Amino acid sequence: MLSISNVTVDIQGSRILNNINLSVEAGELVCLVGRNGAGKTTTFRTVMGYRKPVSGSIKLHDVDITAFPTWKIARQGIGFSPEESEVYAELTVAENIEISTWTRPEGRDAKERVEEALRVFPKLRQYLARGGAQLSGGERKMVSIARALTLDAGMLLLDEPFEGLSPAIIPVVAEGIASIRSMGKGILMAESNSYHIPDYVDRILVLERGELIFTGSLENARKDRAVMRVIAGEVNLAV
Ligand SMILES: Nc1ncnc2c1ncn2[C@@H]1O[C@H](COP(=O)(O)OP(=O)(O)O)[C@@H](O)[C@H]1O
Ligand SMILES: [Mg+2]
Repeated sequence: MLSISNVTVDIQGSRILNNINLSVEAGELVCLVGRNGAGKTTTFRTVMGYRKPVSGSIKLHDVDITAFPTWKIARQGIGFSPEESEVYAELTVAENIEISTWTRPEGRDAKERVEEALRVFPKLRQYLARGGAQLSGGERKMVSIARALTLDAGMLLLDEPFEGLSPAIIPVVAEGIASIRSMGKGILMAESNSYHIPDYVDRILVLERGELIFTGSLENARKDRAVMRVIAGEVNLAV
């Protein structure tokens, strides 16, 4: 579905991503793991067209989207929930979710798409009339993911969906992500804390200083000391 081939990105003369290769299929959850500054967000921003690679290509369903502007990439079917999970303060929660149907009216009925997102995050139903400014961190994440979902995209990019969430809300968001995958969508998520990687992840890719140093199952990553040193820190090697 999504394939990134030999992508290299420079920012202000520095190499930030070096020859990245990854692919995500429909119904697959792939987690990009790496410390702060590893290049996870840059990978997402490059897929979304905010940054152009110096070499390499990005394809969605065999369509080369590398040179497309961001709006066209979104229309092509990639939903993005950024790290900051932007929620518009002046809009209600319902409007914050519906907004994708204004920008991408094609596809299924708008109401049906919003309803689908609310089935993924039923907790949001009680907040629909609330203003976007009155939400907790977890609610903001859910609204941001729900909005990406309502775009009716086949592929979702979730940048650190568990970042800053209270321990009680993490399983709620994790459950939502699992149900999005069961809808047959492809999901690429980023995570900097190896303990937040959901057990049900299909594959993890470890990014270190702009290079992929591991691709495989979470189980195999946990057996690899060099990988664990990067994603869990020395002190947690025993885990
Ligand atoms: N706009 C920018 N200007 C300069 N450097 C940047 C910019 N965006 C990202 N970088 C650099 O690129 C590297 C990767 O950052 P980022 O992709 O945000 O990492 P991550 O999301 O894994 O924490 C960092 O060294 C960061 O300082
Ligand atoms: Mg980031």
